[in-house]
Amino acid sequence: MPKHIFRLLALIAAGLVVAAIAKPLLTDSSFYRYGHYRADSVPEIAAQEPVYQTPSYCQSCHTERHAQWSASNHKTVVCEVCHGAAKGHPQNGKLPIPKDTAKLCTLCHEAMPERPRTQPQIQVAKHAGGQQCNVCHNPHAPKIAAAATKVTGNEAAGKERAAAACAGCHGADGISPNDTWPSLAGQNAAYLVRILAAYKSGDQTDAAMTPLAQALSDGDIQDLAAYYAGLSCKATSGGKVVGDADRGKLLAKNCASCHGETGIGSNPAWPILAGQKPGYLANVLKAFKAGLRKDPMMASVSRGLSENDIADLAAYYAAQSCQSTKQGKAKP
Ligand code: HEC
Ligand code: HEC
Ligand code: HEC
Ligand code: HEC
Ligand code: HEC
Ligand code: HEC
Repeated sequence: MPKHIFRLLALIAAGLVVAAIAKPLLTDSSFYRYGHYRADSVPEIAAQEPVYQTPSYCQSCHTERHAQWSASNHKTVVCEVCHGAAKGHPQNGKLPIPKDTAKLCTLCHEAMPERPRTQPQIQVAKHAGGQQCNVCHNPHAPKIAAAATKVTGNEAAGKERAAAACAGCHGADGISPNDTWPSLAGQNAAYLVRILAAYKSGDQTDAAMTPLAQALSDGDIQDLAAYYAGLSCKATSGGKVVGDADRGKLLAKNCASCHGETGIGSNPAWPILAGQKPGYLANVLKAFKAGLRKDPMMASVSRGLSENDIADLAAYYAAQSCQSTKQGKAKP
């Protein structure tokens, strides 16, 4: 055999030997074990610890949130659905707080034709406009309470009491003579009970109202609420208007899910705004904004309002008719 042929064959043979030795060294031991090439990933993945904890993990540190959440219908939505996997928290840092709730909440709540109705659904544009959902809803207890206090007061007794103690400021017929004091005629009775009780307990304070309310018994409050709610608010409008009611009407769309389109909402525990004194409306909105008057829903709603917005909203609501207001007790 010529030398050069022999060398070629020897080279090929050496290559084959090297390949045969190298193959088991380069191939993963799991080759073919899973029917195809896949390294040792399965045991590796199986060996990883779970990244999700459970809501009970959060309970000891975030007691208040956990309590709100577990008492609400959202207890079916576990914390980490919204906040992400909690492994390593709190040692390795905070968990993210969802910023864009309009995006997060609509993942489950936007009404779509194909979506099964396993949770309540909304038409987003109509329901929230462009607002974030947590302006009105607490994500940990999203139900917006509709519960109203029952009003069982006696109108005649309320009338007597009002003439003696309240008429000077709120008017003989519940229509305030002063632009910055509220009219009470035709206001929701359940709201009147709630707000008077709040003045009495100190949850809400006002230089004029606090001492007066402290002198009232629970029975007096019921009677006064029944009396004022039954009065006609026909003559309520009036007062100095500084804002632009047309612009106010546009802004009021953001308030409509609670206060109704024209300031008459569906929840009797909340105040009617239609026909209220514009000066009073503006002052109250400024007080909410500054945190002087406290209500969690109004706090977040009023935060973004400018001075002009407030004047315009006040002008709009003051100009609305309160005639259809009364939940029951209207007198023509
Ligand atoms: C061992 C206590 C502990 C546990 C358990 C715990 N957290 Fe926290 N969490 C903290 C601390 C401490 C902070 C930081 C608070 C701060 O600095 O304001 C925090 C911050 C957060 C924040 C961010 C708050 C902010 O103001 O930025 C979120 C959201 C949060 N935790 C959610 C959760 C969730 C959901 C769970 C359960 C899966 C959980 N945490 C379990 C202690 C805990
Ligand atoms: C439906 C989504 C959702 C669920 C479920 C949820 N959260 Fe939150 N969480 C939010 C949003 C949105 C915020 C932002 C603040 C706000 O709007 O109140 C927040 C804020 C927080 C904060 C920060 C509070 C602050 O203002 O500094 C903590 C802590 C927290 N959540 C803990 C929890 C715990 C614990 C659970 C479970 C028991 C939970 N969350 C369940 C959406 C959710
Ligand atoms: C992962 C899906 C999911 C997300 C995200 C979610 N929800 Fe829910 N939500 C539900 C389910 C499910 C229910 C109904 C629970 C039930 O009725 O048992 C519910 C109930 C509600 C209710 C009615 C509560 C009641 O007591 O009647 C409101 C309001 C609500 N969610 C608002 C929100 C808001 C606001 C957000 C965003 C911060 C949000 N949801 C995020 C699934 C979700
Ligand atoms: C301006 C205030 C406001 C904003 C913003 C808002 N909601 Fe609501 N939402 C309400 C009020 C008030 C109710 C209860 C009265 C009702 O049933 O209409 C409610 C009820 C709901 C319900 C329960 C409906 C039912 O059929 O029981 C869901 C779900 C809901 N909202 C989801 C959302 C989501 C998601 C967003 C954000 C895209 C959002 N909301 C933004 C005020 C608001
Ligand atoms: C010295 C004047 C004065 C007298 C007297 C007075 N009030 Fe008031 N009242 C006010 C002022 C001012 C406010 C607005 C307070 C504020 O801005 O928080 C108010 C607010 C109220 C509100 C809240 C209205 C709303 O829309 O939120 C109610 C209810 C009320 N008064 C009832 C009464 C009753 C009942 C009496 C008699 C027992 C009475 N007031 C006597 C000055 C008075
Ligand atoms: C999520 C529901 C909700 C939304 C949205 C809302 N409000 Fe309110 N509003 C309330 C509740 C509840 C009260 C009663 C607060 C209290 O008891 O102090 C209130 C009280 C008020 C009052 C005080 C009335 C009085 O007689 O004292 C004014 C004014 C008012 N809201 C204006 C607005 C305006 C303007 C907007 C929109 C920019 C708005 N609200 C949006 C729930 C809401």
